Amino acid sequence: MKEKIKVGVLGATGAVGQKFVQLLAKHPWFELAEVAASERSVGKTYGEATRWFQNTPLPEHIGRLPMKPCRAALDCRIVFSGLDAAVAGEVEAEFAAAGYAVFSNARNHRLADDVPLVIPELNADHLTLIERQRSKRGGSGFIVTNSNCSTMFLAMALGPLHQAFGVEKVFVVTMQAISGAGYPGVASLDILGNVIPFISGEEEKIEIETRKILGRLTGDRIELADFAVSAQTNRVPVEDGHTECVSLKLKKPASIAAIKTCLQNFRGLPQKLELPSAPPQPILVLDELDRPQPKRDVMAANGMATLVGRIRPCPILDFRFVILGHNTIRGAAGASILNAELLVAQKKI
Ligand SMILES: NC(=O)c1ccc[n+]([C@@H]2O[C@H](COP(=O)([O-])OP(=O)(O)OC[C@H]3O[C@@H](n4cnc5c(N)ncnc54)[C@H](OP(=O)(O)O)[C@@H]3O)[C@@H](O)[C@H]2O)c1
Repeated sequence: MKEKIKVGVLGATGAVGQKFVQLLAKHPWFELAEVAASERSVGKTYGEATRWFQNTPLPEHIGRLPMKPCRAALDCRIVFSGLDAAVAGEVEAEFAAAGYAVFSNARNHRLADDVPLVIPELNADHLTLIERQRSKRGGSGFIVTNSNCSTMFLAMALGPLHQAFGVEKVFVVTMQAISGAGYPGVASLDILGNVIPFISGEEEKIEIETRKILGRLTGDRIELADFAVSAQTNRVPVEDGHTECVSLKLKKPASIAAIKTCLQNFRGLPQKLELPSAPPQPILVLDELDRPQPKRDVMAANGMATLVGRIRPCPILDFRFVILGHNTIRGAAGASILNAELLVAQKKI
């Protein structure tokens, strides 16, 4: 790429926003040109407005960027949104109407029938909904969403199995990191030494978003995948990384070895196109009995891999396994950036 594409981050001060900033600071195709957040932050520099808690220093030139309001007057073509759902719906729609390519992490638009909910390894074909969105809403901009963070890893592990054997039923129990609740998030006295067996709206998101992602594009509509998902979600005292215990029933018979091979050998369009943020192998299967673990494994492939371990028979359904992924990288900012890379590679931006 001769010249980098200017991009902006909405909600740049938050947990997902900071991850965007960290990943974009060294991106080969994108130049972080604009940072925006609430009126609380406007008028300050990014460094002043942000309580930076990433594990790499905030680059000085980014710390000096002025905080802008979330109005569609930013000097860039692409905006990545890490906005709170309370405001994301309206703000993202305003940017799309003004001609920006919007890559959203919020729940607001994910289920709209003209908005693609994309994991590019699995359902890049859903991006054709952009045309439907433009003709329905007008304007040259658009909104593309990525999933809820727990859904990301579940859909990634189920996708290849659904293609090969057909998924019939899924039962999933999550153990979700504190960073998934944003910053400052859950009070330390609530979460230290504790498990909170409720995350508002999370179970519903996992149950429906997984079916949209693995659904079939027919004409200009998505038919939801025809399997049932039952989810139970928990907040646990882990900094980064959502772990999920999954049991599933398949439509066609499969052996443990076939399941392992299917997951291990899976590659998608981002790998074929060698997109900058694509993990070379999207699903890593671990054979050690006590893995994956957030502390040891969450940064595999720079936080972009989905790890699967403990694949074994299930006495109630057919199989069970444990999955892990980095919630603010593959589960949020990294996923959005990968979606944008795909559309740039396809010359749709
Ligand atoms: N954390 C995760 O792992 C994760 C994963 C996937 C998806 N998500 C989704 O990503 C979004 C952001 O989550 P987060 O965890 O990063 O939340 P967060 O840490 O609370 O950050 C929220 C961001 O929104 C901005 N904001 C709040 N009210 C605003 C307003 N009225 N106008 C403009 N900006 C406003 C805040 O700016 P100020 O600093 O100026 O207040 C901040 O930058 C949410 O929709 C969440 O559901 C999060």
